[in-house]
Amino acid sequence: MSATRRARVRALAKINLDLRVLSRRPDGYHELRTIFQTISLADRLEIGFTPGRKSSIELKDDAIPNNLVVRAAQAVMDTIRRAGRVEMRLSKRIPMGAGLGGGSSDAAAVLLALPVLAGGEVELGELCRLGRELGSDVPFFLLGGTAVGIGRGTELFPLPDAERREGVLAAPGVHVSTAEAYGLLSASLTTALQENKIVSFQSQAWEWGCRQPAANDFEPVVFGRHTVLARLKRRLQRGGAVSAMMTGSGSAVFGLYRTAEEAGRALASLRGGEMAGGKGFRFSLVSRARYRSMWRRALDGHIGANAWPLRSRYLR
Ligand code: C5P
Repeated sequence: MSATRRARVRALAKINLDLRVLSRRPDGYHELRTIFQTISLADRLEIGFTPGRKSSIELKDDAIPNNLVVRAAQAVMDTIRRAGRVEMRLSKRIPMGAGLGGGSSDAAAVLLALPVLAGGEVELGELCRLGRELGSDVPFFLLGGTAVGIGRGTELFPLPDAERREGVLAAPGVHVSTAEAYGLLSASLTTALQENKIVSFQSQAWEWGCRQPAANDFEPVVFGRHTVLARLKRRLQRGGAVSAMMTGSGSAVFGLYRTAEEAGRALASLRGGEMAGGKGFRFSLVSRARYRSMWRRALDGHIGANAWPLRSRYLR
């Protein structure tokens, strides 16, 4: 009987520092220009692999139907062709339906960790392909840091690290369906706006230093439905945020501050009726270097050569 190889990994959340939706594509998805950023808020995933003759995948204490982590594990097992038992346990901290990419990050965590534990090798391009099939935000979490996303959001280009900021997140307990938000936004998209959006996004990507006002195209439609979100954004702005915006298709709203004191005061200001049933968080921006060293630490003892994605020491 082989020993179980175990790891505890953190699946980080993301925010969109900028998000423009250009048009609906023939495949039904929307053409995006976005800047993704990993942040320190994270889910915890415990994952174990026991080599054996039969394969099975178990997610313990699962309260989420059709959880993406199970599909991600299946995709890895089908790709690496190693038999064994996969056991996982997920502790959710990232609010769901909030535009923070929690489910996508959990799935990406399985794509990064399971090949290492199971002794398989999957190249980055292949991992990105598996990720795309699971969801538009998954490939970003295979890279981390600050990155431009275009197309469906799955074509990624690394950016230099964003300026150091102290973040505050207001997750008011409003669940926004991504598909619904795209549907609402689609009706208001016109091709005349596109040129303008591409030019302003371009300057944003070059100068992400808060000189240009960043934008999220979902705000008008989602704020129209949930007026509480606009009020929360104003509160974060009044606290001195250099940038305050909704992330993804909502509903979480974040503010970025120059100092820890400002961020602390902004978090304290989030109490009250608008936040009833919700949660406020402090976070920091996580660079690609920090993201990767976090991953190396989490899989310490199971990795061989220093490479990205991490390479297993159990390769045969
Ligand atoms: O890819 P994912 O499953 O996360 O997308 C959820 C839904 O969001 C899609 O079914 C689609 O309606 C919408 N979407 C879109 N354009 C994108 C990403 C997502 O229309 N670029």
